[in-house]
Amino acid sequence: MIATTDADFRFLQQFLYERSAIVLGEDKHYLLDSRLPPVLRRVGSESVSDLVRALRRGDPSLETAVVDALTTNETSWFRDGAPFEALRRHVLPELVAENSLRRCLSIWSAAASTGQELYSIAMLLDAEFPEVASWRLDLHGTDLSTEVIERARTGRFSALEINRGLPAPFLVRYFRREGAHYVIADSLRSRVRFEQLNLVKPWPPRQDYDLILLRNVLIYFDEPARRRVLAAVRDHLRPNGYLVLGTAETPRGLVGGLVAVSAAGATFFRLEQAGDAASGRPAFAQAGAERAMPAGSGAGEASGKEEG
Ligand SMILES: C[S@@+](CC[C@H](N)C(=O)[O-])C[C@H]1O[C@@H](n2cnc3c(N)ncnc32)[C@H](O)[C@@H]1O
Repeated sequence: MIATTDADFRFLQQFLYERSAIVLGEDKHYLLDSRLPPVLRRVGSESVSDLVRALRRGDPSLETAVVDALTTNETSWFRDGAPFEALRRHVLPELVAENSLRRCLSIWSAAASTGQELYSIAMLLDAEFPEVASWRLDLHGTDLSTEVIERARTGRFSALEINRGLPAPFLVRYFRREGAHYVIADSLRSRVRFEQLNLVKPWPPRQDYDLILLRNVLIYFDEPARRRVLAAVRDHLRPNGYLVLGTAETPRGLVGGLVAVSAAGATFFRLEQAGDAASGRPAFAQAGAERAMPAGSGAGEASGKEEG
């Protein structure tokens, strides 16, 4: 167990909150034990006080390493199953039909971790919506952690990661084996782009999206940060776009202007529009074919840096 004084713990809490909005609760002392050893080795010490002193002196690359170490990057393929089933059966058919004249589709995975979420969408589009192959597709993944973004860009996964929710037919179709690892097909990797973005700092100018996945990140923030991020994300939804959050997350009581739509056991959010009640909106306009996802999807223990 790493010895940490109360003062050092408070410094790290404040340090992490200012840079990420992540709240390191009093009950999270144990996280330091599992996460800090590699950064301690980097400062050549076993003492958290030495690390805190180095951070106080100001070292941008050390700061990045500490923030990366303290983020929880747990993720998996087709995580939770139901949202992807709803995407396949309702959301994507509707977005594809609505955008068929523009022939563009923009999708943002806003806390992408090592990329499984965005690559799951890329596989789903390729397998089920061949008509979009010739469209201008923007499949965009962002995350605070530079480390996970670099990993996502490689499209390279361990057998353990692959085993978490990737349907066997997708493994066969979209991955090649390289030693102990599996690498996603170049045809998919070339369609996605990943970049570092801190959701709680000002964003560079960005487009609006047809679909935004903001899943399992708000749970780490306090209420003011949740409000700010939800409002900013809502303002980057296209008029008929969809937002999907993690199963434990909701905009209710935090921001207005969004209405919930449920199908296939999942809830999505859309921009509220005048006349929604009278027109029967919100509802999914179009139901796709009733085919099940390939077996194994959403089996979903998550992988990545977990708590503990
Ligand atoms: C638990 S993972 C969720 C991954 C994926 N969305 C999923 O549901 O499987 C949470 C991710 O949020 C990222 N994150 C935490 N704070 C962030 C912030 N302020 N801005 C952007 N990403 C952040 C973490 O680095 C981590 O990769």
